[in-house]
Amino acid sequence: MPEQVVAYLDIQPAGTYVDMTVGSGGHARLILQASAPTGQLIAIDRDAQALEMARQQLAEFGQRVKFFQRRFSELPDVLAEAGVEQVNGILIDTGISMDQMLDLERGFSSRSRSSLDMRMDRRQKLTAYDVVNRYSQQQLYRVLRLTGREREARKVASRIVSFREGSGPIRTTAQLGELIAATVAKRDWGKHRNPAARYLMAIRVEVNDEIDELRRGLQVAVEALQPAQGRLVVLTWAGHEHGLVRRELRRLQHPCTCPPALPCRCGKQPLIELVVDKPLSPSEAEVRRNPSSHSCRLHVAQALGTTKQSGYKQAIEGDRQMGYDI
Ligand SMILES: C[S@@+](CC[C@H](N)C(=O)[O-])C[C@H]1O[C@@H](n2cnc3c(N)ncnc32)[C@H](O)[C@@H]1O
Repeated sequence: MPEQVVAYLDIQPAGTYVDMTVGSGGHARLILQASAPTGQLIAIDRDAQALEMARQQLAEFGQRVKFFQRRFSELPDVLAEAGVEQVNGILIDTGISMDQMLDLERGFSSRSRSSLDMRMDRRQKLTAYDVVNRYSQQQLYRVLRLTGREREARKVASRIVSFREGSGPIRTTAQLGELIAATVAKRDWGKHRNPAARYLMAIRVEVNDEIDELRRGLQVAVEALQPAQGRLVVLTWAGHEHGLVRRELRRLQHPCTCPPALPCRCGKQPLIELVVDKPLSPSEAEVRRNPSSHSCRLHVAQALGTTKQSGYKQAIEGDRQMGYDI
């Protein structure tokens, strides 16, 4: 949904933007074109290979774009390093790119026979091999139930543990995918045909700590937006991400935790308003053009005029008092 991303970011010629997940630079290019001639882009990716590709793809924009190999939850450090305080728009495009998926050495794909890796940032220690071969059955189940199929996830976790106890470690993503496919009854394969994909995604999410990253990323993004003007656009691709982003944005829109019948005592101020109430789906024409876009959802929020730091800190403090794990 590239056109909508640019339209909803409401790009200004001299604005400063952040692409928190620059990948190979497709969206970044559109942002730089729309903000010509002086707009600035801060391009973040935790994957060195992706960042190198973006650097090459965006070379023509020269000093207008700065690159950072960081997690997007580290946005405050990146902004401090770039000497920027507030920005006009931020894009988060979750998950992994087609380039990462198709690079069989990285182990993201069920066709990969080289390694069970799945790290976006290859400097990090934890790999999919560790998750699959070292986690206890209970830990594996906790990871795999992200698929929303609790009984099936229990069965897959148990099968992984009995396989590695009987035959030794599982060494490749293809081997793991085959084990999962053989564990799930054919009648439960559902519309995705091969159930391995959803379990492999759950393992990737664990390896890269994607849920906490996304939650923190949304918070720091909202904090960095220009009050009363800055826009946040988020593209999500999987069920757990759609729900998480929707919930977090609603929480930032309605942070007050007081009982509705009573006057507000917590004092927490809304930080954003949703620009589209229900996340947008791609048009039929777009899905025909690009079938993998069918699962994409686009979320848009705009910063309110609240003093950003005070409002944000109030909301976080209030959540702590309510016992939320943040
Ligand atoms: C779906 S791709 C983005 C594609 C990009 N929008 C484009 O037009 O080419 C997601 C990218 O985000 C990166 N990524 C995912 N989670 C991240 C995080 N927490 N911090 C930084 N980068 C992340 C991945 O390495 C991947 O390159």
